[in-house]
Amino acid sequence: MKVFITRRIPQEGMKILSQAGVCKVSLWDSDEPVPRAELLKGVEGAHGLLCLLSDKIDTEVLDAAGPNLKVISTLSVGFDHMAMDEIKKRGVRVGYTPDVLTDATAELTVALLLATARRLPEGVVEVKNGGWSTWKPLWLCGYGLSGSTVGVIGLGRIGMAIARRLKPFGVKRLLYSGRTARSYAAEVDGEYVPLDTLVSESDFVVVSCALTPETQGLCNKDFFSKMKNSAVFINTSRGAVVNQEDLYQALSSGQIACAGLDVTTPEPLPTDHPLLTLKNCVVLPHIGSATYSTRGIMAELSANNLLAGLQGTDMPSELKF
Ligand code: NDP
Ligand code: DGY
Repeated sequence: MKVFITRRIPQEGMKILSQAGVCKVSLWDSDEPVPRAELLKGVEGAHGLLCLLSDKIDTEVLDAAGPNLKVISTLSVGFDHMAMDEIKKRGVRVGYTPDVLTDATAELTVALLLATARRLPEGVVEVKNGGWSTWKPLWLCGYGLSGSTVGVIGLGRIGMAIARRLKPFGVKRLLYSGRTARSYAAEVDGEYVPLDTLVSESDFVVVSCALTPETQGLCNKDFFSKMKNSAVFINTSRGAVVNQEDLYQALSSGQIACAGLDVTTPEPLPTDHPLLTLKNCVVLPHIGSATYSTRGIMAELSANNLLAGLQGTDMPSELKF
């Protein structure tokens, strides 16, 4: 069977595929995204596709693959880059990588929250450029978690892991919103509240929901206008959950205190983007799951998902849709 892989992936995954001896792998052998034309060519006649969140898997790609295609395995937990309705229509199975990246992503979210709220990037720059003249009582003050209210939008696997890590910092109230209340929220004394309540009462708003038609553009002008002027906004889900023009206005006008983003639209964010001119906006290059071990395990899981899809057996992590 023929398999196309859209990028260099950690060796752990490649090894599993080559040792299985059930497929002939062709690889876009680069760290950069596969050009669209190469993707369409590479996938032709493939039985399996191993893709990344940066590859748009739409009708055109599915048509190019043709009727052989049995399985798509994405090296991500997010699946907003794939046309799920079309995939379902064609009876193609989908594998993804939940759980194995939860800890790494939650850890990065906490790091980004602290870096943003306590102004670490600004401090580092001041040390290097001579702006550090002496200890000053009013200089580089930020916001602390102790006694605060934290609001998590989307208390899923990662949202819950973030909440667990933040609670020991002395968080007083942990609010969350989503489509339904979750019994497991009791572990972090989570209070299920309407989104408006979360937005207006939180000192830290953390977005960890999936990108769906309902969450696209959720964080907009109206949303930011309800936040406290002293509030910190953190997004490690997907860039499109945020209206970035509205976020820029909220940050530059002092409507909210600061923002930390691990995800943006587009990715990469152009270096002349207005958000990058703001001292109170910390932007990271989508590194939530980027630990060596996590990426290795993601590669293993996506290789095993692919093999199961090719062989028609149970997948370790199959997306049910
Ligand atoms: P889960 O499916 O466990 O959680 C998704 C959450 O989204 C659920 O809690 C769900 O809550 C919530 N949600 C869905 N629809 C809505 C809605 N309309 N309003 C509010 N909340 C909603 O996924 P994970 O926690 O594993 O991953 C979450 C996302 O994080 C991924 O989809 C991906 O986009 C992103 N991610 C980013 C990474 C990075 O590197 N920055 C790394 C890994 C993931 P409910 O069902 O209660 O509505
Ligand atoms: C995902 O898995 O969806 C992340 O965005 C990358 O790990």
